This record gives sequence, C-alpha cells and structure tokens, in this order.
Amino acid sequence: YLPPPSAAASSPGPGDGDGDGDGDGFLRCLSAAMPSRLVFPRGSPSFAAALASSIRNPKFMAPGTARPLAVAAPAEASHVQAAVGCGRRHGVRLRVRSGGHDLEGLSYRSTRAEGGEAFAVVDLASLRGIRVDGQASTAWVDSGATVGELYYAVGRASGRLAFPAGLCPTIGVGGHLSGGGFGTLLRKYGVAADHVLDAVLVDARGRLLDRDAMGSDVFWAIRGGGGASFGIVLSWQVRLVPVPPTVTAFKLPVSVGEGAVDVVTRWQTVAPALPDDLFIRVLVQGQVAEFQSLYLGTCGALLPVMRRRFPELGVNRSHCREMTWLESVPYIYLGSGAAVEDILNRTTSLAAASKATSDYVREPIARAAWAEIFSSWLARPGAGLMILDPYGAAIGAAPEDATPFPHRAGVLYNIQYMNFWAAAGGDAAAGIRWIRDLHAFMEPHVSKGPREAYFNYRDLDLGENVVVGNVSSYEAGKVWGEKYFKGNFRRLAMAKAQIDPDDYFRNEQSIPPLIDAE
Ligand code: FDA
Repeated sequence: YLPPPSAAASSPGPGDGDGDGDGDGFLRCLSAAMPSRLVFPRGSPSFAAALASSIRNPKFMAPGTARPLAVAAPAEASHVQAAVGCGRRHGVRLRVRSGGHDLEGLSYRSTRAEGGEAFAVVDLASLRGIRVDGQASTAWVDSGATVGELYYAVGRASGRLAFPAGLCPTIGVGGHLSGGGFGTLLRKYGVAADHVLDAVLVDARGRLLDRDAMGSDVFWAIRGGGGASFGIVLSWQVRLVPVPPTVTAFKLPVSVGEGAVDVVTRWQTVAPALPDDLFIRVLVQGQVAEFQSLYLGTCGALLPVMRRRFPELGVNRSHCREMTWLESVPYIYLGSGAAVEDILNRTTSLAAASKATSDYVREPIARAAWAEIFSSWLARPGAGLMILDPYGAAIGAAPEDATPFPHRAGVLYNIQYMNFWAAAGGDAAAGIRWIRDLHAFMEPHVSKGPREAYFNYRDLDLGENVVVGNVSSYEAGKVWGEKYFKGNFRRLAMAKAQIDPDDYFRNEQSIPPLIDAE
C-alpha cells in the first residue's frame, strides 16, 4: 500500500460497537472483507508460521504465551479498515505488528488474554512499499517496510541522501517511527519521528486519515507517542537528510587493561559535546568497551578533531574506514564482512531470547561507579551488555514538546541494557535478574524525577496500565508514561481522548484517554 498523494478522510469502516468477544463472528466478518488466504485463524495449518513470521524474541513463543484468535496479513488499506471494524463489532482487540521488534512482544502477544480479552494480530509485513522522491528529498514508506529497506531505497536513489533512524536493519518502520527512532545520525538530525511530514492512519472508527484529516494534536502524538495507541499507521511521508558522498566509520575496542574505565569516564563528557557530524557510541560488554563511530566526512577531516577533542581514544588513520553512508549501515551493525544487500534480509535468528531496559544520563557517572560496573556487573557469568548512545547537538536542540519524544536538552547519553540467553534451555530467570539488579544499582547514577526511559526500549517492569470501567486509567498510566514521555504524557492522553475515547486500541503500555482535562 502506498497512499495517494493526499489521502482524505474516507467513510467509517463497518461496525463501531464493542461487542462481547465473539471470535467466530470476528472471523466470519474478516473473511467476508478480505481474501481468506490472508487470514490465518488459530488452529489452521499456517497459523503458527504466520504468527512466528516476524517474532524477534523467542521468549514470547513459549508454550504459556496466549495465542491470538487469528493473524491477518492485509494487502491493502481496506483490509486494515475491515479488521478494525470487525474487531469493534465483535469485541476483539487488535495487536498491530510491523517489524515485530517490540522488546516486550506487545505487537503479537497480550498479557491480558488470560483475563478473557480476545485479540487478533494485524501483521503489516506485506504493506512495505517505498517511494523515494530524490528531487524533493522526501519518501513515502509503508509501515511494514524495515528501516534497512528504507535505507537501501534512499541510498540507491542518491548517494547524498539518508534517513536518520535506528541501527538494526530489521526494525519495522511502523513501530520505530511511532516511538522516536535514533541511530548514527541522531546528533546531526535528531530522531526519525522528527522527520515525519505526513502519515496515513486507520483510526478506531475504521477511517483512513491523513495529516490534515487527523488534526494537529493526533499528528503530533503519532510522531513518537508510541505505537498501538492512536490507531494503525499504514504509511509515512518522511523528510530525507543530506549526507556527504564519503563518510568515515571506525570501531575501536579498549579493554579494561588498556584503560577502558578512564576512557569511558572521559567519553561521557566528550561525546555529547563533539561537532554534530561526529557520533561515537560505546558497547560495553565483558571487560571491553568498543567505541563505534560515524563521521560525516573524510578520515583526513576526522583525525584532527579526534586528536584535539578525544586524544585518550588514540584514533589514527589505520582505524578509519571511508565509505558511503549506505555502506556504513551494514558495516556498523553487521560487521565488516557484510554487504549492502544484507540490510534487505528480513530474517533474524531465534536462537537467543532477551530482556532489555534503558536509562538516560544527565550528570557524568563517577569513575568509581564505572570501575564497579566493569569489575562486578560485567564480569559475572551470564552478564549482558550496555550500549551508550551520545546525545547533544540536534537531538538536544529541539524543544521537549516538539514531538512526544522528550529526552532533549541536558541529556548526555542513553543507556540500553540488554541480556541474552539460549532460547532452548538457557537460564531466563538469571538473565532477567541481571538486568533488574543492574537497573536497581544504577538508580543513583541516572536521571531522576522522573527516571527517564526510552519508549522504544520498552520494559513492562516500569509499569502497566490498569483498566477501570473499560478504559485505561490515566493516573495509573502516569507511573510508566512520565518516564517515557515526561510532561508530554498528559498531552498524549488528551490526543488519545480525541481520536480513541473508548480506548479500543489499548495494551499494557498504551496511552490512556484523558477525557475531562482542564
Ligand atoms: P513491532 O511491530 O513489534 O511494533 C512495536 C510497537 O508498535 C507495538 O506496540 C506495535 O503494536 C506498535 N506498532 C507497530 N506497527 C504499528 C503501526 N503501523 N501503527 C501503529 N502501531 C504500530 N530503536 C532505536 O531507536 N534505535 C536502534 O538502533 C534500535 N535497535 C534495535 C535493535 C533490536 C535488535 C531491537 C529488537 C530493537 C531495536 N530498537 C532500536 C527498538 C525499536 O525501535 C522498537 O522495538 C520498535 O518499536 C520496533 O518497531 P517494529 O515495527 O519492528 O516493532
């Protein structure tokens, strides 16, 4: 599905009642509205494969996980409208999936199903068209495309254009843009959601709405306010950004023996204050800190900056890899042997299960704390890793309420904590405990009031919605919502009340409607 240049509001889809959870009725309704080969009811031969098709965390394929009534794989907008209409008429909620990378699996599983809440999955993987307009430096991209597919299309259309979003090529555009989205260009250009110009949304009444039709509050909300709250975004128009024909990447591991504690301590204040065309992140794992960098320019221009601003890292010409921006995508995320075409590969391994959470750092963490992180936390058997992404420059320059993504001025860096274990026979409890214990240890060292977290690194430990009178409670939602969105949470709840006052689109961490706002 690619939208017409201007998709105006169309008529409501069928049905708007809440029904009583009539699964058979839902399936009959859906089968009447879309080809049966695109609907996979639970128990049908292809159901398991359809459900697993884009699951990224095998933890949520375990036998105890509640299964949806069906997986629907729409091939056009009207199928999505019909799914919403059938869902409302028959009391079945929808989980929408684009790339399936949700860290808590909320695009295809529900912890509510045990309470009798029927749900179905709408999988947008077939809706993945991309249309690049190099002249205008814009693109329309469907939610089911991956960011790798988007990067490829943009990079092939012009060696001087890019799109600023996440590092992992298999992330889905739909979930990623809904929650912010940042990667190697974040210091130059901010988050992906900052570059959305228009979008096409199917709302809870089954209407197809573009930017004008959805109104400015809802258009603000869908650009970073989190997926699955305001409707189903089918497609996005994005602004592309200029990059030079040659960029320089480097990866430089520094072990504890080589001074990693000092270099990471120093990095905290250096990296967020560097020129905006220089991004240096750190992967901290075991007894090594690997510095990964993208510079928008040549090695010759980079080296004097590194010598002046960050001599402790010891970068020299032998570390530089000059390439195009498109080539930097596989180089940084997949490794030096990867080809540009590898970013089109949508399959990922299901061998390892994972748990993640996040923090924001506004004051540099003391050297002694870093020494303890390396010697105690990262040295343990079964320890995970920390990814430190530097902020500052463009991402910090936007006002906190420019989009719902609020982690702006004053943030030094984001921390993602991640742990993995073997999906078959690994010690899940120990892997999860390491994350939770480290997160507790970090509390005095990170942002406070609220302790900020990144929505796209979703963690249900931060809190879950409480449903009161068939609507998610705003007060209960504040517990997790203000961590992800700070003061923007209230405005998001007001936008939710405009577009979905009945709270049809809801999950464990969806925005609750604030109906009677002052
Ligand atoms: P998925 O399909 O699971 O959806 C995520 C959420 O959005 C769900 O609640 C879903 O219902 C909702 N949703 C999905 N499509 C929607 C649509 N069309 N309309 C409305 N709601 C929709 N982030 C980052 O900023 N930078 C990075 O570098 C990375 N790297 C990374 C690597 C790996 C391996 C993982 C697993 C995750 C990341 N992320 C990341 C986090 C990533 O941005 C986040 O998980 C996104 O929500 C993934 O979007 P998907 O469409 O793949 O997820």
